[in-house]
Amino acid sequence: MRRLLLLLPFLLMSCTSSEPPVEAGIQSRSFGTLPDGRDVTIYKVTSPTGMVMEVTNYGGIITRLTAPDRDGKFDDIVLGYDNLEGYLEETPYFGAIIGRYGNRIARGQFTLDGETYTLAQNNGENHLHGGIQGFDKVLWNAEPFSMGNEYGIVFTYESPDGEEGYPGTLSARVTYLLTADNRVIFSYQATTDKATPVNLTQHSYFNLAGPSSDSILDHELMLAADHFTPIDAGLIPTGEIRAVTGTPFDFTTATPIGERINADDEQIAFGLGYDHNWVVSDMTSSMRLAARVHEPTSGRVMEVLTEEPGIQFYAGNFLDGTITGKGGNVYEYRSGFCLETQHFPDSPNQSTFPSTILRPGETYQTRTIYAFTTDAD
Ligand code: BGC
Repeated sequence: MRRLLLLLPFLLMSCTSSEPPVEAGIQSRSFGTLPDGRDVTIYKVTSPTGMVMEVTNYGGIITRLTAPDRDGKFDDIVLGYDNLEGYLEETPYFGAIIGRYGNRIARGQFTLDGETYTLAQNNGENHLHGGIQGFDKVLWNAEPFSMGNEYGIVFTYESPDGEEGYPGTLSARVTYLLTADNRVIFSYQATTDKATPVNLTQHSYFNLAGPSSDSILDHELMLAADHFTPIDAGLIPTGEIRAVTGTPFDFTTATPIGERINADDEQIAFGLGYDHNWVVSDMTSSMRLAARVHEPTSGRVMEVLTEEPGIQFYAGNFLDGTITGKGGNVYEYRSGFCLETQHFPDSPNQSTFPSTILRPGETYQTRTIYAFTTDAD
């Protein structure tokens, strides 16, 4: 009898759930080789709830991330390619770790401690996302790990002094953890031997409806931000921190992305839609909610929590149907969005923005969480 009582919770669990039990864990397989012959690995991380994250040590790229809809059906919700070759070409940074500097640095130049540094100009005259061979295009060292029934990967990369024009040897460490409550936790760390700007982020593109060429304009977005940083025609911040009230940039209450994306507004014109940095609530470095996205047909909800002061909301304005991605899916105009947690763009040239300079002896440390639920939870 006592034995039956002990077994009861398990018997009940197996009776109430129609899904086969999920085995949480981590598996690896080859993802091909780089042109220089180095092997690339892909890791498949499964959570106890059945979420799957596939991630490669090339660029720390998340190639697949599944999340349940309101009926418990899992779908892949990130954009990307079927194979390594796709990622080796010039890509819009699908799924990758971005560094040393997420977003733009004007004219690829900045002055630090009296010395002027010149970086790669890979976006018109500006420097974007770390340059020509940023952290999205390097092979990281990867170590899988587990914490109880939760699994993840630690990525490390030593960026040599002078890489893409940046000063100092930067030792970067980025951890991805897939939790038992459907969260992906990103922990970023870096140290340097010379002062250098650092602004690491993650560049996954989402379409919460699942694999689809449809636009993300019906997704409803909330941004916990009363201000944003206006830009010029080259997408460089002007230095102003502007209130969102009364503008198409007010997402303090959930609003469909498409509702005002074509508004007659100078900032919308400069960004070709939304491609701006919002100032997250009080600019503290505590972990707090920055964004919430709801996709009405699937019911999927994604929340972004971060310790960063800013978040770039990019509505996929440069996707134009020329990229064929996973499963032959064509990435049409605005069919994916990014929410990139970050320090503000061009901070090395903007003395009023929070500093992005890391000095020897200091440790750069920041965390961001993508949390997945549904409107039925
Ligand atoms: C930027 C866009 C850029 C895109 C690259 C985003 O982070 O904000 O301006 O075009 O990355 O695909």
